[in-house]
Amino acid sequence: MDKLVIEGGKPLSGTIVIQGAKNAALPILAASMLASGTSTIEHVPELLDISVMLSILRELGCQAEHKDGTVVVQTEKAHSPHVPEALMRQMRSSIFLMGPLLARFGEAKVYQPGGCAIGERKIDLHLQGLQALGAEIEEEGNVIICRAKELQGADIHLSFPSVGATENIMMAAVLAKGRTTISNAAREPEIQDLQNFLIQMGAKIIGAGTDTITIDGVEELSPCRYRVIPDRIVTGTMMVAAAVTRGNVTLLKTQPAHLTSLIHVMRRAGVQITIDDDIIMISNSGRPKALERVVTSPYPAFPTDLQSQLMVLLSLADGVSVLKETIFEGRFMHVGELTRMGADIRVDLNAAFIRGVKRLYGATVEATDLRAGAALVIAGLAANGRTIVEQVHHIDRGYDRIEETLSHLGASISRYSPVTNN
Ligand code: EPZ
Repeated sequence: MDKLVIEGGKPLSGTIVIQGAKNAALPILAASMLASGTSTIEHVPELLDISVMLSILRELGCQAEHKDGTVVVQTEKAHSPHVPEALMRQMRSSIFLMGPLLARFGEAKVYQPGGCAIGERKIDLHLQGLQALGAEIEEEGNVIICRAKELQGADIHLSFPSVGATENIMMAAVLAKGRTTISNAAREPEIQDLQNFLIQMGAKIIGAGTDTITIDGVEELSPCRYRVIPDRIVTGTMMVAAAVTRGNVTLLKTQPAHLTSLIHVMRRAGVQITIDDDIIMISNSGRPKALERVVTSPYPAFPTDLQSQLMVLLSLADGVSVLKETIFEGRFMHVGELTRMGADIRVDLNAAFIRGVKRLYGATVEATDLRAGAALVIAGLAANGRTIVEQVHHIDRGYDRIEETLSHLGASISRYSPVTNN
């Protein structure tokens, strides 16, 4: 398993371009199945999760190539509604292939995606939504089979604004008969990106980005060309990395409007952030201020995917901060590892009480999930001495060659692969 070796204490400086959004590209690639023909999706990052999604599309009978950030998917020959279990286990969010498969084939066979380090990751809202559209769902062990001779529009209310469930329902409803409304829908920018892709294919859909989405089913959709939005979580990760190393970094091709909550929180902590169109400039020369209380909530509130990264900033702040996680029940796996680097953090249920320290110290730490891993890299950049981050494959799921991006900004970071660096 690869490791990252980081010599900390170097302020980041320079300019980078932000990659395309993983969490927008994944549902959009799934949605390409809704039309027969060749779709071209641009600004798709080279990530483990993306390559798993392309493998699934190929297993379903599509042709899919990813070159220079552009994916070309040919779906004419798609023939199977069955997502292989091994691939589902590699990426749980392949569950949102159910909607497109059901809409295209009238059937979908998937597997319980199971939980992961950050939580149980239930899919009941996905299944309830598809059932409301007329799908019959059979569960035998960990196999889930959905069938629907014809999908009928329905009024669906989500008890929680689940991102994946909103996306699955949208992708099934665009080819259903009649009107579907999704109330208490997730409002994330990735939902808006999926809506814009579906509209490009000929779907009739409005409301993404608000809590009510209305879809009028159409007979058929056409393949299209589309460019994915920038990755707001990668942007936020780099902003925190710049701040904790007391650096001076410019991020290009971002969408600042997708990060208003993080920008507000970081400014409260005393970090200088300047915005100019699609450019975000971050500079920080002093010790961050502690923040009395930050709570993760569905968009547009503070995103759970930036909670672990912010915790590193608060670990170095002057004072005590409280960081509350309300989306996932297990998203404090990074706390133990940060404590081993000298952070002073106490967890009580879903709240972390963080007493800022003057400095962190390098250690050998283990990434347990994607964003916890990113947080440990950020901590290593800020720490005195050497940090070794193990299980780096978690980080590669969401960051395209993170060590190259950070080296470009002046970090001392290198990757060791067991085979090549003996
Ligand atoms: C998406 O996951 C993202 N993944 C996650 O990003 C992100 O953390 C999450 O949304 C919240 O913003 C992708 O887009 C691929 P949810 P998703 O359904 O769709 C519960 C990353 O780091 N829930 O909004 O799985 C669930 O258990 C990843 O890039 C149900 O109870 O998130 C969780 O507690 C991590 N029943 C909460 O809702 C359901 O049917 C949020 O889940 C579905 C979800």
